[in-house]
Amino acid sequence: MARSASIVRFAAIGDLHVTKDSAGTLKTLFAQASEAADVLLLCGDLTDYGTAEEAHVLAEELSVVKIPMVAVLGNHDFESGTPEVVTETLTRAGVRVLDGEACEIEGVGIAGVKGFAGGFGRGSLGAWGEPAIKQFVQEALQEALKLESALAKLRTRHRIALLHYSPITGTVAGEPVEIFPFLGSSRLEEPLLRYPVDAVFHGHAHRGTMEGKTINGVPVFNVAKPLLTRSRPDQPPFRLFEVQRDAPEEPARAAQPATTA
Ligand SMILES: [Fe+2]
Ligand SMILES: [Fe+2]
Repeated sequence: MARSASIVRFAAIGDLHVTKDSAGTLKTLFAQASEAADVLLLCGDLTDYGTAEEAHVLAEELSVVKIPMVAVLGNHDFESGTPEVVTETLTRAGVRVLDGEACEIEGVGIAGVKGFAGGFGRGSLGAWGEPAIKQFVQEALQEALKLESALAKLRTRHRIALLHYSPITGTVAGEPVEIFPFLGSSRLEEPLLRYPVDAVFHGHAHRGTMEGKTINGVPVFNVAKPLLTRSRPDQPPFRLFEVQRDAPEEPARAAQPATTA
């Protein structure tokens, strides 16, 4: 497919849950994404148990990709207690793995963080009571702070947020309501209000909804592979999103926090 000079195309997918038996099963999909887009975004749960063996299988599957790759890890990538091994293996395979950092590709800023659970809106768990509850909430706050600091570093006109957990309920709808608090956190939405982005991509909610919006109208895409496969069986399970490239004479806009408290 011919590259457009004025548009940057992103292909996003999450929840690959690669196992040692996945060898040879994803190359066709990744080749299609590489052909269709200019940048590949990977939204966590890239492996099933976070083992070195799984990470190596994924790295080999990704060898067909000819475009820049950017990823965040998911909770499954932590299961074996060695997320750094997954990160190192993917980094050696050419993937930029973000954990509260930002990068710029094709003139578009990308801020990435795994995120965490904790619930949404008035149902958000508060830091009150036992130390274990406070620690749980602190983890969600910490991930939100990492997202905010990553977004604050970007000076590009166009920005994308890459997450594993959802920042809104709209894209987890479809899952049992009892588990909503474990699928994401409104605390992740707060930085997106202070530092608006063009789009948010996440995974984790395999039975959620493909599209939603933040309260300031930013599109949020749940790109969990099982959801895309089930919702659009006639299409490869990645989401395409286009960003208009800056014209050379346009000044880049500095990211500005909201002036309200
Ligand atoms: Fe998952
Ligand atoms: Fe997950």
